[in-house]
Amino acid sequence: STASTPARGAAQVLVASNRGPVSYEVGDDGSLHARRGGGGLVSGLSAIGPDAGALWVCSALSDGDREAVRRGVGEDGVRMLAIPADVHADAYNGIANSVLWFVHHMLYQTPLEPVFDAEFRRQWASYETYNRAFAEALAQEAAEGAAVLVQDYHLCLVPGMLRELRPDLRIGHFSHTPWAPVEYFAMLPDDIQVRLMEGLLGADRVAFLTWRWATAFENCVQGLDPYRWLPQWPSGAPRSIEHLEKERITRRTLIGVHGLGADAEFLHARSHQADVEERMTALREEIGEGRKTIVRVDRTELSKNIVRGLLAYRQLLDDHPEWRERVVHVAFAYPSRQDLAVYREYTAEVQRVADEINSLYGTPGWTPVVLHVKDDFARSLAAYRLADVALVNPIRDGMNLVAKEVPVVSDEGCALVLSREAGAFQELGKDAIAVNPYDVIGTAAALHEALTMPDEERAERTKSLAAAATALPPAQWFLDQLNALRDQAS
Ligand code: G6P
Repeated sequence: STASTPARGAAQVLVASNRGPVSYEVGDDGSLHARRGGGGLVSGLSAIGPDAGALWVCSALSDGDREAVRRGVGEDGVRMLAIPADVHADAYNGIANSVLWFVHHMLYQTPLEPVFDAEFRRQWASYETYNRAFAEALAQEAAEGAAVLVQDYHLCLVPGMLRELRPDLRIGHFSHTPWAPVEYFAMLPDDIQVRLMEGLLGADRVAFLTWRWATAFENCVQGLDPYRWLPQWPSGAPRSIEHLEKERITRRTLIGVHGLGADAEFLHARSHQADVEERMTALREEIGEGRKTIVRVDRTELSKNIVRGLLAYRQLLDDHPEWRERVVHVAFAYPSRQDLAVYREYTAEVQRVADEINSLYGTPGWTPVVLHVKDDFARSLAAYRLADVALVNPIRDGMNLVAKEVPVVSDEGCALVLSREAGAFQELGKDAIAVNPYDVIGTAAALHEALTMPDEERAERTKSLAAAATALPPAQWFLDQLNALRDQAS
């Protein structure tokens, strides 16, 4: 479709995120093909819809996206920003994914990292430029008093910048990641800590996926020098950060928590389409008759802990040789952030460890690890449906949607082995088997426990996991934030 973005300053509701709901590819004949993005945010926003005047501002990410912007091709309700490729690369790869993501997920190998040098400062300048491009576009598109929901660590500075340009707006920020512990946040240069907080606290409301991350954020604010903000917990009132000037409270930023859930209706329908059935047949063939399956589905992401998961599976085969030939580990690890060397190395390591297990333990009729790396949502759903056990063992994770999707889609019940460091653990912990993600032996024992769980118990637990996982479906998750923001400002 062609562009018909609302006239300037007409949008009543705006969303801003680095990754948008649609992406373009240039075909061999030069034509542009649009692909719908997935994910909770996409389904959440579709509840509002372009007809309601909602506008989604996002980055052009692919060459196709940039070409679409150049040709003026777009979708209703979506505005892509063609930020210069080098600026975007510095902001996205350099600051967002190599610094902020690392700090919030505690991924640094601290004897040598991080190093905040001149290169970091150069990239930081790009992060400022990139955030400013978003703030300016939002300022241009927003109607008087409109609500703006800014998403994630890519856009921490936008709320502050936007408030300066448009003090009439109601601004919310939502973090889909964990928030760093104080000691980790304190590694950032002092002025950068202040800059990030000034940016985020430009919002009327900052929200997180669990109270655990919200509290971590409050602790970081409290520790900041100069000491400008105070958290307060009056009974019943929403938690907030006070902005102080000469001991006077000038403004408050509220703290919110919204645990994004799985979309049951969509998942049920999608997982029973023909392409999913076909992939189930193919997977069953790969697994072999009468075997149990341990499934995992992740982006190949450092925080997902895929290598220790494989090592735990290997430990299981050592500790319980009775499982040999009787279980298969179906691991889907989809490439992510391959511009970063450390992600490419991690991807290679996942492959290496999987190959090693297969060559050490495999037999002519049994491949212990079935690893697939080509992103295929239909095949992920097929695996969810037939899994006996799901392994979700991140080092640290804002929420983890896979843990919430599996119990909804599962055909006959699936035992969930879940890291206590995943945000989803707060909601699902009761019916999952908890693991410390660093403890390979403990994870192997949890896998054994999951494999031997009685059918009835597994079915019961799956049912209550599914109920907890769908408690706040994406559309409601989005509306709750919008309503909270509106209530607060009026
Ligand atoms: C996490 C982040 C999202 C991000 C997603 C995929 O869930 O919170 O903001 O979009 O990972 O990462 P990518 O870098 O591919 O957008």
